[in-house]
Amino acid sequence: MTHSHVPLAGVIGNPISQSKSPILFRHWLKTYGCKGHYIPMPVEEGNLEQVIRTIPKMGFVGCNVTIPHKIDVLKIADLATDRATLIGAANTLIFRKDGKIHADNTDGYGFIANLKQGAPAWAPSIGPAAVLGAGGAARAVIASLLDAGVPEIFLSNRTRPKAEALKSAFGTKITVVDWVQAGNIMEQASTVVNTTSLGMQGMPELRVPLDGLRRGTVVTDLVYNPLKTRLLIEAEAAGCVTVDGLGMLLHQAVPGFERWFGLRPEVDINTRAAVLR
Ligand code: ATR
Repeated sequence: MTHSHVPLAGVIGNPISQSKSPILFRHWLKTYGCKGHYIPMPVEEGNLEQVIRTIPKMGFVGCNVTIPHKIDVLKIADLATDRATLIGAANTLIFRKDGKIHADNTDGYGFIANLKQGAPAWAPSIGPAAVLGAGGAARAVIASLLDAGVPEIFLSNRTRPKAEALKSAFGTKITVVDWVQAGNIMEQASTVVNTTSLGMQGMPELRVPLDGLRRGTVVTDLVYNPLKTRLLIEAEAAGCVTVDGLGMLLHQAVPGFERWFGLRPEVDINTRAAVLR
């Protein structure tokens, strides 16, 4: 395989038809006139290792990874970034010229980049953050908030032991709060993040009481379907600064695109429009 060929990249998942990555990458390839192709690849769990060992030999320079493979690819990869190891999952694979597979996780980067773009005044020093949920997405969010320098995180999850496990993994800056008391942490938080799937189309609403939200608090939801969740609508009404979740999906793709196609793409209104179309 030679990297002088038209670069190939893609996304591996199962199912893969719901992935927005092909639309996003093709939009950037076209916008910037880059040579390259980006291909959705449905891969069953039993075939994962064989696939990621084979596609570099066909001209693939890397790929994104989505559900259900994000944890397993980390075990298969030859090397992993610190952030991927810390999060325990990878969403971006780089196929190096020496044949080694390098795993990275850009979800936390995408989360912070989206926050900064959507709320330009946001800074980690504004105060404690409240994180709702303790699944895979929460791991990336917590790792990136701590890495950015947020002083304290209040973490609340329906299944409390999962929040306790994240506290054990990420340390003393995390305070676990019972799910029934999640409303109480809104008052103290300068940043509020929903990482649960509540509020997503087809899921129940997030019912955490929001009357404690303060004017100026930055509130963001990882759910982007719908774009304006009940959390964001109520936060806006309370005078909070709101940031929708679509941008995280777009920003997490930036490092991969730059690596594979040689140019750092912008996340702008045209990018959003292309993906929403
Ligand atoms: P992801 O990778 O998107 O984070 P996940 O790992 O399946 O997905 O995590 C889903 C999150 O949404 C969890 O925090 C989950 O809470 P539990 O750990 O208690 O399952 C949360 N979640 C999903 N459905 C929920 C519900 N009906 N009520 C409260 N929390 C819910």
